[in-house]
Amino acid sequence: MNLIDSIIALTYLLAASLFIYGIREMSSPATARRGNLLAAVGMFLAIAATLIDRQIVSYSWIMVGIVIGSLIGAVTAYKVKMTAMPQMVGAFNGFGGGASALVAIAEFLRLIGETDSLMRFDTSVTIMLSIIIGAVTFSGSFIAYGKLEGILSGAPMTFPGQKVINALVLISLVILSIYLVAVDHNMSLFYLLVGLSFLYGIMFVIPIGGADMPVVISLLNSFSGMAACTAGFVVENNILIIAGSLVGSAGLILTQIMCKAMNRSLANVLFSAFGTGDAGAGSIRSSGDKAVRSVDAEEAAMIMGYAQSAVIVPGYGMAAAQAQHAVRELTELLESRGVDVKFAIHPVAGRMPGHMNVLLAEAQLPYTLLHDMDDINVEFPHTDVALVIGANDVINPAARTDKSSPIYGMPILDVDKAKNIIIIKRSMNTGFAGIENELFYNPKTMMYFGGAREKVQELVSEVKKL
Ligand code: TAP
Repeated sequence: MNLIDSIIALTYLLAASLFIYGIREMSSPATARRGNLLAAVGMFLAIAATLIDRQIVSYSWIMVGIVIGSLIGAVTAYKVKMTAMPQMVGAFNGFGGGASALVAIAEFLRLIGETDSLMRFDTSVTIMLSIIIGAVTFSGSFIAYGKLEGILSGAPMTFPGQKVINALVLISLVILSIYLVAVDHNMSLFYLLVGLSFLYGIMFVIPIGGADMPVVISLLNSFSGMAACTAGFVVENNILIIAGSLVGSAGLILTQIMCKAMNRSLANVLFSAFGTGDAGAGSIRSSGDKAVRSVDAEEAAMIMGYAQSAVIVPGYGMAAAQAQHAVRELTELLESRGVDVKFAIHPVAGRMPGHMNVLLAEAQLPYTLLHDMDDINVEFPHTDVALVIGANDVINPAARTDKSSPIYGMPILDVDKAKNIIIIKRSMNTGFAGIENELFYNPKTMMYFGGAREKVQELVSEVKKL
């Protein structure tokens, strides 16, 4: 190994350590920014070392790619709304998968140009895997993007015989890759494999409801890592193998956490066509003869302002209304009046993992006020008032009591145990799961109807008058 090779290997080792340490730091809000920065430094080192290592294309082409890619990445990251984060991650995964597939396609074409006989077994196996996983990730991610962005219908798209057709496409991919690896590098069959892989990504995602897309995106994130890992084997690049495995396993763990927090299996998410994806726009349920108590800003301010303890429960509606800054103002105001304010964070509140944490951090709310479900649930019985801001499913007691409910078994925030409950939402509409919430009819509950941001702002003005 010459000096350059040693430097590259050591830089890769350092980059890999920074990735792992960065991910570890991201597990706490206090250190998450630093973790992100460290991982980014690791990525910079990895790219720099790769540029020294490889001279496949000229540096001018590489620079053009870096400048265009960085510009697009920076502008989109800067402009994206927090509520559109899942689809942005989806698009990034898609590009990652697509890049891995392209690398493997290019390598296949290069190698068959060089040799008439079959290429090495391990090389051809990893090429096939990289193409299939990468292409599925690309097309699947963009279907997920389209569903979340509203370009495609969020409803599950199903047709008779769909599962059989999907299974046939998958079996064809396996047979084609075995043939291409072991028998012959037939170009028509190779292109058929590439085409079917992209097709399978589409077929895999269309039957899944838009509302389950965040879980699908997390799974595709894991796929993009696996595709990068196999591409790493194809081009014999260690850092790509390491980074790919980290993304692959992190995505898988996240997928599992999301499924667990919703009390659903991955198979149920992928094959049950659950939800519509029309977030926050569920059907209006008739309240029948059940009474709903509503309050105005003045009354809500009296209850909040004179309470000793308050737990704020944010949900998807807070994100949709971008109410987090008004929520911070309310928190500061209540604290200045001596109210003990805490936040209850459900693991799947909103539409992406950590959604509420990110929004509240953006509004500069101290993370020490944020409490996980298990910690805060014991506090609700002693809490004077629980203020729910645009949350619905994550506080629905049916998850505890109604065996027929689609969310039965999902751990929830025990808001119903608080002494008083104020719920901000615009109507009696259902949330993501499309089911009615008995809590709205609880005698302790006061519905404070309206858009989350306006309602919290009105609350702030009224508390100031107390
Ligand atoms: P949801 O159950 O979706 O309820 C959100 C509520 O916010 C709606 O009922 C809606 O009622 C209200 N809302 C919408 N826009 C609003 C606005 N501008 N102002 C005020 N209220 C507004 O939300 P949740 O309680 O946060 O639960 C999250 C759900 O998403 C769970 O079912 C979870 O399983 C699912 N999910 C989460 C994730 C992750 S990782 N977080 C991933 C996939 C699925 P109105 O229309 O009446 O206003």
